[in-house]
Amino acid sequence: MAVMCGIVGYVGEKRAQDVVIEGLRRLEYRGYDSAGIALVATGTIASDKRAGKLANLEKAIADRPLPPATVGIGHTRWATHGAPNDVNAHPHSGAQRRVALVHNGIIENFAELRVGIEADDVALLSETDTEVAAQLLEAEVLTGADLTTAMLRLVNRLEGAFTLVAVDALDPSRVVAARRNSPLVVGIGDGENFLGSDVAAFIEHTREAMELSQDQVVTITRSGVSVRNFDGSSAEGRRYHVDWDLSAAEKDGHDWFMRKEIHEQPRAVADSLLGRRTPEGRLHLDEMRLSDQELRDVDKVIIIACGTSFYAGMVAKYAIEHWTRVPVEVELASEFRYRDPILDYSTLVVAISQSGETADTLQAIRHARTQRSKVLAICNTNGSTIPRESDAVIYTHAGPEIGVASTKGFLTQLVACYLLALYLAQVKGTRYGDEIDEVMRQLEAMPDHIATVLASADAIYAMAAEHVDTRSVLFLGRHAGYPVALEGALKLKELAYIHAEGFAAGELKHGPIALVESGLPVLCVVPPAGRDQLRDKMVSGIQEVRARGARTICLVEDGDDAITPYADTVIRLPKVPVLLQPLVAVVPLQLFACELATRMGHDVDQPRNLAKSVTVE
Ligand code: F6R
Repeated sequence: MAVMCGIVGYVGEKRAQDVVIEGLRRLEYRGYDSAGIALVATGTIASDKRAGKLANLEKAIADRPLPPATVGIGHTRWATHGAPNDVNAHPHSGAQRRVALVHNGIIENFAELRVGIEADDVALLSETDTEVAAQLLEAEVLTGADLTTAMLRLVNRLEGAFTLVAVDALDPSRVVAARRNSPLVVGIGDGENFLGSDVAAFIEHTREAMELSQDQVVTITRSGVSVRNFDGSSAEGRRYHVDWDLSAAEKDGHDWFMRKEIHEQPRAVADSLLGRRTPEGRLHLDEMRLSDQELRDVDKVIIIACGTSFYAGMVAKYAIEHWTRVPVEVELASEFRYRDPILDYSTLVVAISQSGETADTLQAIRHARTQRSKVLAICNTNGSTIPRESDAVIYTHAGPEIGVASTKGFLTQLVACYLLALYLAQVKGTRYGDEIDEVMRQLEAMPDHIATVLASADAIYAMAAEHVDTRSVLFLGRHAGYPVALEGALKLKELAYIHAEGFAAGELKHGPIALVESGLPVLCVVPPAGRDQLRDKMVSGIQEVRARGARTICLVEDGDDAITPYADTVIRLPKVPVLLQPLVAVVPLQLFACELATRMGHDVDQPRNLAKSVTVE
């Protein structure tokens, strides 16, 4: 039924089957419950669709080849309701197989539309809202409307969130798509054009792209792209150049995208720091778009995000409060608007999202804007919805993150959070210029520190190998190390499917210590020794769990030997300030989870039940 997924469309001179399947392969991280393709071939729709990963579809097509065609659409699905079986897979067609349609999102009024269709004695094959839309689109085309007109009529009858992409068996000249609250970008080629949920779908063919606004219908032909608003008026999409290429979307010799992305982190962090200072040494953020006065008026910051991005937000709280003295709340985006948060024009809402499409975060942003708050997005995906609906944006420059588990996305979010905190400090005058300079210099040294941690990956891998039979792992941290502990636990849960919990070390004795039993691995993120109080309290926590039989694995700053007597294993971290420590401390935890999951035989890039961009609430 309702889904969030990857969508591809193509019209040109090449074999559409190859372009569509290749595009789906690059979008498979968005969902991989089922996949399907439809081609326009000499007056008919030729299609196939299969439950399971794309490989199942590819095998089916290899066994029963589709006819040659140069126009096609494809879909890879992540089911929200409705079993991921062959029938529910996309594309869907009308009863006469005149059109084929793929869909990402939820059509909320589909039940009522379905009743109308069934009243006309049309039997629907699947349980999906998509088939209802296909049926309605076909009915419009059968009245003689061209596919673009039919799509415009259709979208005005639909409620909810959707990207739709369709072809007409009798019109091999075009592919037509529509978007409302769901992602879609256009790829501009030479004698060919593309549609995709994101640019990865067509990056092999073109780096010229066009973003669309909400509530628009786009028609691509071999020679052009035309955009219309849902009310029928004509519109223009914004064209942009994609600044990464195919090699960034390949594994580069690694077994997993995730492992490649972990190793890309020094570069990703360096890229995210590039160009942030004027020749005079002042911080400058490209798309800040909020005036200094607006920022000076900010008296409260609320950070909203989900999952790993939420943990980046937790680190941001420590940095922003420390450097600016402005109070910061961090809230799960999915909880935010339902508690009727107190917001006004002097609240700065910061939305952190790698994909820029997370529905929970998007809805929270929309709520904040209705309350007149300014919204700043921290995002990795140019052209995505969240930055477009925000007042300002800090783009991270991680490059495409394909592995479902966020790694370089997280590190570059941290960088963006530090930059934001320092920028606020500069504008509000809560830190002197030379203090800001000093932190910038420390940040600029981080890529080398991260590379140092990566250089000892083999030691972490050996440790992971010893844990393949582990059923449960705890992670402890304090201060900025606490979100790192949470992130370490999340990585292990989502990749290795084993029980893992992150705790603030001080909370342990208030309950969780009861979980500790002989041999339980406990990973401890130890604060830098310069923070004696924090570090010493952490040492006590480590002693407490060790005394109860835990096996302690301690991430400790180079040169700090106070922990050694209580650590079964020591992992050395470069010496960095406490606020920046998450940038190095999380890396061994990423490597640990990646390796452990690999050794357990799991698919690291596409963990079960997950999808990369969660475009449903
Ligand atoms: C975990 C992970 C997720 C995302 C979360 C938010 O490895 O990747 O927890 O962090 O779904 O996604 P974005 O940042 O795209 O909004």
